[in-house]
Amino acid sequence: MDCPHAPLRRIASLSGPCLLVLLLAVGCEKSAATPEQIDLAQPAGWDADLAVPVAPDLDPDPDTVVIDLEAKVVQLEVKTGLTSELWTYNGQLPGPTIRAKKGDRLVVRFTNSLPEPTTIHWHGVRVPVEMDGMEPLIQPGETFEYSYVIRDAGTYWYHPHHRSSAQVGYGLYGALIVEDPSDPPLGDDVVLVLSDIGIEADGSLTPGDSDGWFGDYFGREGNTVLVNGRILPTLAARQDVPQRWRLVNAARSRYFKFALPGESTMVRIGGDGGLIDRPEPIETLQLSPGERAELQVMPKGTAGELTLMGLDANRFHLPVPDPPVPLMKLRIAEDAPGKGAKPLPETLRTIEPIDTTGARVQGIDLMEKPGPIGAVLGINGKTMDEAEPLHASINSVEIWEVTNSTPYDHPFHLHGFSFQVLDIDGEAPVRREWKDTVNVQPKQKIRIAIPFDDRPGHWMFHCHILDHAELGMMSVLEVK
Ligand code: C2O
Ligand code: CU
Ligand code: CU
Repeated sequence: MDCPHAPLRRIASLSGPCLLVLLLAVGCEKSAATPEQIDLAQPAGWDADLAVPVAPDLDPDPDTVVIDLEAKVVQLEVKTGLTSELWTYNGQLPGPTIRAKKGDRLVVRFTNSLPEPTTIHWHGVRVPVEMDGMEPLIQPGETFEYSYVIRDAGTYWYHPHHRSSAQVGYGLYGALIVEDPSDPPLGDDVVLVLSDIGIEADGSLTPGDSDGWFGDYFGREGNTVLVNGRILPTLAARQDVPQRWRLVNAARSRYFKFALPGESTMVRIGGDGGLIDRPEPIETLQLSPGERAELQVMPKGTAGELTLMGLDANRFHLPVPDPPVPLMKLRIAEDAPGKGAKPLPETLRTIEPIDTTGARVQGIDLMEKPGPIGAVLGINGKTMDEAEPLHASINSVEIWEVTNSTPYDHPFHLHGFSFQVLDIDGEAPVRREWKDTVNVQPKQKIRIAIPFDDRPGHWMFHCHILDHAELGMMSVLEVK
């Protein structure tokens, strides 16, 4: 019944007539010609104002994706009328979206044309340790080939893991989308990379070490909020035609939180590591740095433009939250309403609970202590420089009890291995899902279960407020 080329529709983001032509051309007359299909088309040019170009696959093999990626400094106009010198992948902000499907080999032929060393970390992806972007440091002018098989579908992202706060802050990040061809139709795919950047009055970027210790300790938030590298872009939608939003928080320190404007509704369908077990209708979504979400958005209401406002996630737990900031415009097109989505399946994905019998338990306390200038941040009493590696055995399951003894939130992130949250202060989460980044509030205790497979090596774990990681809230796990 289903057109085998259906994913094309999601990837290509074509308008109605083009879509029909394409589907006819690839031989899906049956489903393509039905008025029902056409009636589910997005408005013409719906994502043209913000779509991030996809990195071209340079290999004809359908199961291998080869792309060229170059980190380089370019002049871009992010704020109208101002030229800024950004650090980019392939001259774009954000870097090109990399698209592959589950099981593909991804080969990234990387060149560092920056004035300093860098690496690329594949956030959330189960890579072999040599591909995790820790070492080698790629020196200016050098090349490196990242190559690995992608085992899991989901919304991932890539960014440097050397001086990451500064390098991410200057513009180095991009989305890595891994599709599962067997996904049910969930809506037309749009990637939304949320970030911020500091742009001064003359267009220059706020230095990565601005405000010294205060910047490190509180986490630097750029003065300009971006969606796909743009200020307040517009996404068009059509009443009752579902969209699948893939969101990445790529900011070095800023949290994002929003509700949909108007009558449109959203259902969370995916998290850090692909689809969640069951759809979760939500009113607001919060993403701490590093986290991702997939939403099925159902546009509703009369034609017109609404502004999606970013709400203060209040990571400092202040009595009065900051005022909202505009993120993106949602334009409900004049087009006649669509047919509505097929109801979401009750089960999006079967996710088995992790068997934790006999699991070793380790405590991970995110803490602070006095340092030479002001407080320093650390894990289990030690800053990154003082820490001894933690240990875990290959092919074992561990429970980590992550606590936060500071007065502010910290997003805890583990490299290389995804986990399931067992409970937060004793309460199990409402959905089962794979995560690699989880926000920990002051005094909370979050228990996570981590299955370690057979990938020995040294893996980082840290707070994903990148300024905090650099102030010491980072450590190493040796899996052997
Ligand atoms: Cu997304 Cu160690 O980072
Ligand atoms: Cu990571
Ligand atoms: Cu932190």
